[in-house]
Formats: sequence, structure tokens, C-alpha cells
Amino acid sequence: MISRLGCTAARKLDGKLSAMFSLFRRPSGLHIRPNSSQINAATRRDEGRSADEVCSIRVRAGPLTAEEADFVSSELLCLGATSASVEEYRPDGIEREKIFGTGKRKLWSTCELVLTFPLDADIPGALSGASMMVGREIMYVQQQVLAGEWMDAIKQEYKPMQMGPNLWICPAGTESTHQAKPGEVRIILEPGLAFGTGEHPTTRLCLRHLGEITKAGDTIMDYGAGSGVLAIGGLLFGATEAVGTDVDAFACRAAAMNAALNGVEDKFTCYQCGPSTDDPEPLEQHGWPRDKQKFSIVVANILMGPLTELRSRLTRYAAPGAELVLSGVLEEQAKEIMELYSADFENMAIQTEDGWACLTGRRKM
Ligand SMILES: C[S@@+](CC[C@H](N)C(=O)[O-])C[C@H]1O[C@@H](n2cnc3c(N)ncnc32)[C@H](O)[C@@H]1O
Repeated sequence: MISRLGCTAARKLDGKLSAMFSLFRRPSGLHIRPNSSQINAATRRDEGRSADEVCSIRVRAGPLTAEEADFVSSELLCLGATSASVEEYRPDGIEREKIFGTGKRKLWSTCELVLTFPLDADIPGALSGASMMVGREIMYVQQQVLAGEWMDAIKQEYKPMQMGPNLWICPAGTESTHQAKPGEVRIILEPGLAFGTGEHPTTRLCLRHLGEITKAGDTIMDYGAGSGVLAIGGLLFGATEAVGTDVDAFACRAAAMNAALNGVEDKFTCYQCGPSTDDPEPLEQHGWPRDKQKFSIVVANILMGPLTELRSRLTRYAAPGAELVLSGVLEEQAKEIMELYSADFENMAIQTEDGWACLTGRRKM
């Protein structure tokens, strides 16, 4: 199954980048890529509502060619879908084509899309728009998704993951299957609430670098914190304090929940912010003390567009000599971002994994 990032960020992406950013390869099994509506579902459960409450609508659409599936999934994310996975089209339930393990991005010859829509979405309208784009009617069936089913499926999906020699991410509930050894850092994350589960190469690249550079006493700005995984990782590596920001209020809630799971809730605050530099600067907006607005580590795993727009803001957060860690960019975009930031940062380097890049550098003194 090939899955797409189904979060608000995905809808803001464009064209090729959207497709590349959101393609994930998974060996088998259920794909879940939740976003705000799923967070809502989890939140509703937190608030004591029923797990058998309908939280969203699942739509299966197909058959589609690989090209159609790739194109239509991007379009449907713009037309209201909150997640989209490409699967093999298997009306009789028999798996035919093995495509994994090739090391290349590839889709099945006949595909179907598994989409999630919010309850109030205009599903017929979205599918008819997609049909017009491919020039023929796309057949689909829809089914209600229960909040409990969704969250249980998410939990079954996740297992402890090794991020580096001494670094693990354990989805909450799986901690007992991986006890941290001396010298090992284990980050516990409530699975499925926000981007940053450790499955994406950009998260792994940033985390590994944070593991190498973080010293006792560091302070961290994590811009685009998602699940809070990077700030939490940095705190577990020895940092004293971290601030995060995210455009998504649910991500900030998830980050706070995850901080508590790791016992660092007193050291980490996540503020919701606007997407652009025309929006208020989040630290000023939320009254963060001015004498603490310079950090010794600035990390932002967002995307090329925001990293470009936010350059002066992220640079301002970096104290002289501070470490910079940027990701969310494709290998071929890394040089452009490096050139942009090299006016204020030195010793810049690029690390890559699976087509993604992480740029690092040090703020000039
Ligand atoms: C790729 S995820 C990274 C999450 C986590 N830091 C990680 O490394 O896994 C990017 C996050 O940035 C947020 N985001 C996107 N654009 C943003 C912007 N302009 N300002 C702040 N946050 C943004 C998204 O909501 C998302 O949670």
C-alpha cells in the first residue's frame, strides 16, 4: 500500500512536491494517516464521548490506473479528503502484484484509492470533480468509520522503531516491548495524532542530528513541531527547555500530550501560530519572555516554501553559535535552501535519506 500524507499540510502543498512529500512506502498492512478529523475523534474520546461514534467517512474509489490514482489522490486531498492511500485494486480480495522491495516508487497496474473524508464533506461533489479530471466516471463506495475503530487500528499499526544506535520511538502502549537500555533514549509518542511518528525520513534525519549535537543546558526552538517529537527528543538528549510552534492547534495539543508521556511537560510549550510571516510572531504573541527568545538549537522540519519564507524569523531565533537543523526538503531542493541560509550560518552540511534532505549549520558569531 502506498500512502499519502493526509494532514492539513498536504493540502497546502503543490503539484510535484505534494506528490513527493506525501508518498510513503509501507511493506504491508493497514495504512492510517490521520489529521485533524482523526485528532477530533481522539479528542472526542478523551472528552468521554463514545468510541462507537461515527468520526469520518471512508471511500474506496476505483479501479484506477497508477497514473490516475497518483493524480486523483492529490486532487481529492484538495477537494476535502483528509487522507488518501493508494492500494492494489482487488475486488475479489486476492493480492496479485508484489511491488515492494524494489527501492523505487511504484504503483500497482490497477489501483484503488482509500480516502477519508470528514462527516460534512461533499463526497459526491469531490468524486465528480475527480471524474471530470480523469475524463470518465470514477466508481466508489463509502462507509462510516467509528472513532474507536480508527484509533484501535492506528495503535495496532505502530511498533517500537529504532531511529539510531541509541534512539528509539515507542508508540504509547508499546513501551513494555522495548525497555530503554542504559545510555539509550526512548521517546514515547501517542500514535496517530500529528505528523512526527518517526516513520518519515525527515523526522529521522532531524532526530539523529539532534542526538549528535544536543548538550546539557541547550534550549530548543522547534518550528512546525507536529507531534513534538523533535523538541521532546532534544529534551531527552539533555536540553533544558524547548518551545514549539505549529499552524495546527491539534498538533500543539498532541505535542503537549506527548511531552507529558515523556515526563518533559514542564520543559516544553507548544504555541499555535499562523502560516506566514504576516501573522504575529508566536513568541511575542504568547508573551514568551524576551530574554529567552534566542535558542541554542533551532529546528524546523516543514517544507521548502515555509523554510524560505521563515528564513529571517528562524535566523532571529538562533543565538550566536546556535545549531540549525532544517528538513522537509527534497534532495534536489537542499542546495537552494543552503544558499539562502548561508548568509547567517556557517559549516553548513546536508544529510539525506530516501530522497529527503536535512541541512545543518551553525549561526555565525
Ligand atoms: C513535516 S511536519 C514535522 C513534524 C515534526 N516536527 C517532525 O519532524 O516529524 C511539519 C509540521 O509543520 C506544521 N507547519 C506547516 N507549515 C507551518 C508553518 N508555516 N508554520 C508553523 N508550522 C507549520 C505542520 O502542521 C506540521 O505539523
